[in-house]
Amino acid sequence: MSVKLGDEAPNFTANTTEGEIDFHSWLGESWGILMSHPADFTPVCTTELGKVASLSDEFGKRNTKAIAISVDPLDKHSGWIDDINETQNTQVNFPLIADPERQIAQLYDMIHPNADNTLTVRTLFVIGPDKKVKLSLTYPASTGRNFQEVLRVLDSLQLTANHKVATPVDWEQGQDCVVLPAIKTEDIPGIFPKGHKEIKPYLRTTPQPNL
Ligand code: BEZ
Repeated sequence: MSVKLGDEAPNFTANTTEGEIDFHSWLGESWGILMSHPADFTPVCTTELGKVASLSDEFGKRNTKAIAISVDPLDKHSGWIDDINETQNTQVNFPLIADPERQIAQLYDMIHPNADNTLTVRTLFVIGPDKKVKLSLTYPASTGRNFQEVLRVLDSLQLTANHKVATPVDWEQGQDCVVLPAIKTEDIPGIFPKGHKEIKPYLRTTPQPNL
């Protein structure tokens, strides 16, 4: 099954390093990040999980819970977390799902057989409080993800969920946003009282509305 933007994130129950969870109940009202890691005790995954742990305050500011999945059993996960804490100088403070039967990996289409028959690729889903999929990223096993980019996308997703703007290339918090094409230019001052620039009739910018 492939999981596409706008779909409801499939629910599941799973054994994790923090006990059994029902995924949707665990998410509650939060945003969520579900990310797959090809296997335990592998070098790139070790650095990725360490980075997510060290960014926990940043995810917390964004009301976002992280959860990782690897197709290894729970007892192996525990030893690996000790290594991650030691080598990445952090404390893993989010659950790691054990998926030795690959049921969740299949549910989320995380195994791409032409890349590897048994291990997952590096997939990352951002799930909104409505349980809908807002972002999916797929990286090969050989390339670690950039979690600053994941934070940047979360900022954009949370802004654009509540305001009639989009965010342009390389946008970061505090920078001008793009007014949605559906808004008529004559309506902009009423919606965006901080002002706007019309660069082209289809390219209008406004200061970030929620600051
Ligand atoms: C890693 O996480 O380091 C890794 C896993 C599978 C293949 C290559 C690298």
